[in-house]
Amino acid sequence: EKGGYDHFMLKEIHEQPKAITDTYRGRLLRDEAIIKMAGVEDNMKKFLNANRIIIVACGTSWHAGLVAEYIFEDLARIPVEVEYASEFRYRNPVITENDVLIAISQSGETADTLAAIKMAKSKGAFVFGVCNVVGSSIARESDAGAYTHAGPEIGVASTKAFTTQITVLSLIALRLARAKGTISSSDFRRYLLEMELIPEKVEKALEADAHIKEVSHIYKNAANFLYLGRGYNFPVALEGALKLKEISYIHAEGYPAAEMKHGPIALIDENMPIVVIATKAEHYDKVVSNIQEIKSRKGKIIGVITEGDTVVRELADHVIEVPETIEALSPLLTTIPLQLLSYHIAVMLGKNVDQPRNLAKSVTVE
Ligand code: F6R
Repeated sequence: EKGGYDHFMLKEIHEQPKAITDTYRGRLLRDEAIIKMAGVEDNMKKFLNANRIIIVACGTSWHAGLVAEYIFEDLARIPVEVEYASEFRYRNPVITENDVLIAISQSGETADTLAAIKMAKSKGAFVFGVCNVVGSSIARESDAGAYTHAGPEIGVASTKAFTTQITVLSLIALRLARAKGTISSSDFRRYLLEMELIPEKVEKALEADAHIKEVSHIYKNAANFLYLGRGYNFPVALEGALKLKEISYIHAEGYPAAEMKHGPIALIDENMPIVVIATKAEHYDKVVSNIQEIKSRKGKIIGVITEGDTVVRELADHVIEVPETIEALSPLLTTIPLQLLSYHIAVMLGKNVDQPRNLAKSVTVE
């Protein structure tokens, strides 16, 4: 049942190329240069007239929501707020009939997310669900939606659900950008082409596994980890830290790289491993200077870099390469080494990777 892998988590990490392909299949029609998603098409007016989009979710799904915020605002120019479902529902939020609420949930059963959408519906908002489990409570409660086609996710730590959520949300953002005219047809085509290449690039990123295992061995006894990223890869830093915490029980924090100097830099010494997502992107130079700051304080740098990068390679203690892609799609690649790093560390520490202590696959209590 684990298909030859030691754990479901590892199997599910390796299933991502297929899961992402399954998620865009039938939706991304490259030859016709269109994106076809019935749930979006049927409700196009609602999306286009929305004052804003509110995304609600918990945990890893909330991180996917943060990535979506960047892509929706960047490409479709629609204001987005991303909320923890548990905070949103209890703080008397301002919701109107002109709001679109997107709920993201792998299980479709998370109690706080479900309660948040019920509340938003009662105030007249249009609710769109992004779920993995077909027929789940959140899928049924939503006005419309789009499934991720990740297949069953058994490992408690979410992996393929996360990357397929990003896939679905990117497709929606692109579709809306096209409808609004905020993306040119040539850029739109470029995105479709690149999206189609993502599964093979994920496959390529997975090839770093043996090297990641070596790095894991070096740092497995660290008491703390920091994860840093900027822009599209800030949420990936949060997700990397969450993965490590939940399965290896090592304390880890994710931070926007530029926030480091406002506090966390005080933590840095020769015992602190810092994972820095430093792929070629708009703020690459700034991330490089963050790396220099870490280095001068003797922190240990594990850089996630774009294939062929020499600058960070020179500065970092270790580097893990991922293929080049459009920045907005890069979270689909940079997430992979972070999943593998947490997996290997947890296995080396003898932890129960698929069923970490105190955690449940679906959180149906509030
Ligand atoms: C992390 C993890 C949890 C879930 C969260 C939301 O690996 O699995 O943080 O992401 O409980 O669950 P869903 O997506 O089912 O609503």
